[in-house]
Amino acid sequence: TGLITLDDGYANTGSCRSAITFIDGEQGILRYRGVPIEDLAERSSFIETAELLIFGELPDTEQRDDFRHLLTENSWLHRDMRDHFDAFPTNAHPMSILSAMISALQSHDLPEHHFTDENGFREAAASLLAKTRTIAAASYKSHIGQPIMYPRYDLPYAENFLHMMFSVPYRDYETTPEVAHALNMFLVLHADHEQNCSTSTVRMVASSRANLYASISSGVNALWGPLHGGANMGVIEMLEQIRDGSWTPRQYIDRVKDRRSGVKLMGFGHRVYRNFDPRARILKEAAHSMLDAMHITDPLLDIAREVEQAALSDDYFTSRRLYPNVDFYSGIILRAIGIPVDMFTVMFAIGRTPGWIAHWKEVSDNQRQRIYRPRQIYTGENLSEWRPRAER
Ligand code: CMC
Repeated sequence: TGLITLDDGYANTGSCRSAITFIDGEQGILRYRGVPIEDLAERSSFIETAELLIFGELPDTEQRDDFRHLLTENSWLHRDMRDHFDAFPTNAHPMSILSAMISALQSHDLPEHHFTDENGFREAAASLLAKTRTIAAASYKSHIGQPIMYPRYDLPYAENFLHMMFSVPYRDYETTPEVAHALNMFLVLHADHEQNCSTSTVRMVASSRANLYASISSGVNALWGPLHGGANMGVIEMLEQIRDGSWTPRQYIDRVKDRRSGVKLMGFGHRVYRNFDPRARILKEAAHSMLDAMHITDPLLDIAREVEQAALSDDYFTSRRLYPNVDFYSGIILRAIGIPVDMFTVMFAIGRTPGWIAHWKEVSDNQRQRIYRPRQIYTGENLSEWRPRAER
């Protein structure tokens, strides 16, 4: 079988060719389909960004209106899906609900043949984007014991999510432009990030020709882990421990440096960025201006700055080129919006859905796509003798 080269964690393995997202980790550059992330974060809506990622270009007015219409039409869940919600215990983790519900959607939503033509795919993409948001908000409502809110057809994507999260019967939640802008920006910044763990998972599942929903629910599960999307919860938990006096920032950093503790500095470090993560730069600035505009003082923002300072002036982090990543400041923004911490990773999943869809499509459109099937270096017994149970 020839000699197999081991590449732990695929740090130096190109798994595919892709035309979706460009990252230059040395210079801190991120572009979706060539468009700089800074422009998209400031000027594009999340849905426009999703169209850019999934269909390859920014939509004109007609395309945008048409896609919005598809999202609106597909935003509500089939009645029968309610029973699935009711079957979860009230303290179920929202990521477990999200992945299970996306899997279940395959049975309730569109027949499989829909994915094979362009219009069917367009509808499936719109349906997934709309329903991921609806499921996320509904899982929160079930968790806090409030009735599930219907989506409103007159609201844009981010505002509609906030409505489903925070409105109650007979009292509609009123958002502010700052909050809607911040949520939109959060989603845009999470929309894709080339071959990260969850997207590679989606591509791997897709390479077996599995359907869109099955592939994306696998992506949700991969995102759940604390080294990936789960880090945004980890950051807030760390900052809260410091706020509550369990550690000073310096003590926390020392704890991280002590290998025996097994503690990592959450929201720090990245496989590709060896300099600043451009998303962290934007979010840090946004967290600051958003809290100012909303007249909120969040002690966690000051603590985050202090921890960042302490880390960036410490040889452990600088010699390893560890800088804040997207998760370091995003939680401050989500807190200011009123999103509870256990929903943070779900927020990441809503944001990442366009990227997952775009990558599923790229794999599925490639007629010559081989199934993903890495090799291994076997380290087990060479040959073991089978013995009857009495002799074991
Ligand atoms: N705190 C302390 N040490 C770290 C950290 C950290 N956050 N990140 C990396 N290191 C150390 C690591 O121990 C290793 O040290 P040594 O060379 O002495 O063994 C060195 O830096 C290189 O790290 P690595 O583990 O080889 O890096 P990786 O590319 O395999 O892992 C990472 C990348 C993001 C998983 C990792 O940096 C990490 O665990 N960070 C904390 C969790 C986190 O913030 N994850 C979110 C990532 S960005 C968004 C996303 O993908 O979801």
